[in-house]
Amino acid sequence: MKLSILGGTAGLGRSLAIRFCASGLEVVIGSRVKERAESVAHELRSSVPCSKVSGATNQDAVIGAKFVFFAVPYSGLYEVAKAVRHNLAEHSIAVSTVVPLESDVGGSARYLEPSAGSAAEALQQLLKRVPVVSAFNCVPAAALADLNRELDVIVCGERQPSDELIGMLSRVRGIRSIYGGPLLNSRVTERLTQLLIEINRAYSVKSASIRIEGV
Ligand SMILES: NC(=O)c1ccc[n+]([C@@H]2O[C@H](COP(=O)([O-])OP(=O)(O)OC[C@H]3O[C@@H](n4cnc5c(N)ncnc54)[C@H](OP(=O)(O)O)[C@@H]3O)[C@@H](O)[C@H]2O)c1
Repeated sequence: MKLSILGGTAGLGRSLAIRFCASGLEVVIGSRVKERAESVAHELRSSVPCSKVSGATNQDAVIGAKFVFFAVPYSGLYEVAKAVRHNLAEHSIAVSTVVPLESDVGGSARYLEPSAGSAAEALQQLLKRVPVVSAFNCVPAAALADLNRELDVIVCGERQPSDELIGMLSRVRGIRSIYGGPLLNSRVTERLTQLLIEINRAYSVKSASIRIEGV
């Protein structure tokens, strides 16, 4: 099964690639610049044993991918979605990790509410026929890249694509995924990130995360 990570050259996308590669999954890193994706893929092949990782432009990275992770800043989401949408496979599931924060456009970490309600719902409007689920919104890149860290991931979306993603994530080392209801609830998970950023600031840490108890 092929996984594509758009914006996988840095930050959250790069950390996703590390986790997936360390779990033996096949990953294609997407970038606006092919050479940048190839360079990060090369680096991961040297640092993560047995990596099945390659690099491509965002447009090429999605071809034949079952799960397509959108890991780009909100300010670039429209451009990236428009560039790749005609190359998505019939059976693809789009996964939005995107949080619309003012810091993406040079300000503080204030949540900028999209007119669609959330970034995930905005992506669903752009992609139309391909189901969108949200995940990893409240998972810090630094925690994800630390393979010893166990993390909870809340998945929101229609039940079937969410269950498919949860099934895939059950193969990923250190990840427990939890169904969080319909895509509408991405409005909650995306906003939680603003809270986590404030907690990080208050305690001078980089990787505060959320754990669900009692499930
Ligand atoms: N970082 C975190 O801890 C974290 C946690 C939870 C959720 N998120 C969400 O995940 C997404 C990515 O966050 P990040 O911190 O990883 O971002 P980032 O490091 O700023 O960017 C990730 C990649 O996105 C591509 N990119 C940057 N600006 C772009 C633009 N204007 N248009 C198209 N592509 C662009 C770049 O790849 P190329 O230049 O190679 O194309 C870049 O390497 C954001 O929506 C963020 O809210 C992040």
